[in-house]
Amino acid sequence: MFDTMTVTKVGGALCGSLLILLLGNFAAEALYHTGAGEHAGGEGEELHQAYVIDTGAAEGGSDSAEAGPDFATVFASADAAAGEKVFGKCRACHKIDGSNATGPHLDGVVGRPVASVDGFSYSGGMQAHGGDWTPEALEAFLTNPKGVVSGTKMAFAGLPKIEDRANIIKYLESLGG
Ligand code: HEC
Repeated sequence: MFDTMTVTKVGGALCGSLLILLLGNFAAEALYHTGAGEHAGGEGEELHQAYVIDTGAAEGGSDSAEAGPDFATVFASADAAAGEKVFGKCRACHKIDGSNATGPHLDGVVGRPVASVDGFSYSGGMQAHGGDWTPEALEAFLTNPKGVVSGTKMAFAGLPKIEDRANIIKYLESLGG
């Protein structure tokens, strides 16, 4: 049981610590702002830039195909066995035994019309995409799923390496329909 005195004490203690916390925060912010203001002067922009981490991908586009050989060249010497390993990244959502999971089954996907598996509920974006899953169409989609099929519900960031894309498409092709 709490009597009024205990409640008052506890409440007082809480308010006290909160006040100290707020004051501390205030002091820290005041210090920070003064310091930044003094040293940076009019170069506020430079100050912001100091915190930007350069990943090397910010400029010049992220299309690795631009620098290296094009897809057709890489695909011509693609390796289905290596592609099977890459497919490990898809297994959580895609089966290759004709049954659907989180994603539609992918056996026979190469050459198959987009969004054509019976009984799978595709997103509107995928239904609107149209066309067939040619190796080139798959290549584009797997580079940047959400960029190529806007509104897709495939929660996968993409395969950044052109070799991985070529190999996995070779593997998918080998599965037949
Ligand atoms: C987190 C789950 C998930 C992962 C991982 C994933 N997918 Fe998907 N995938 C989906 C879903 C869901 C769809 C349906 C998308 C829609 O309707 O917008 C889809 C659709 C597709 C389609 C279109 C199929 C059709 O019938 O039109 C292809 C091709 C595809 N995925 C390939 C892959 C490949 C290859 C990988 C691995 C590199 C992969 N996906 C990884 C969930 C996933």
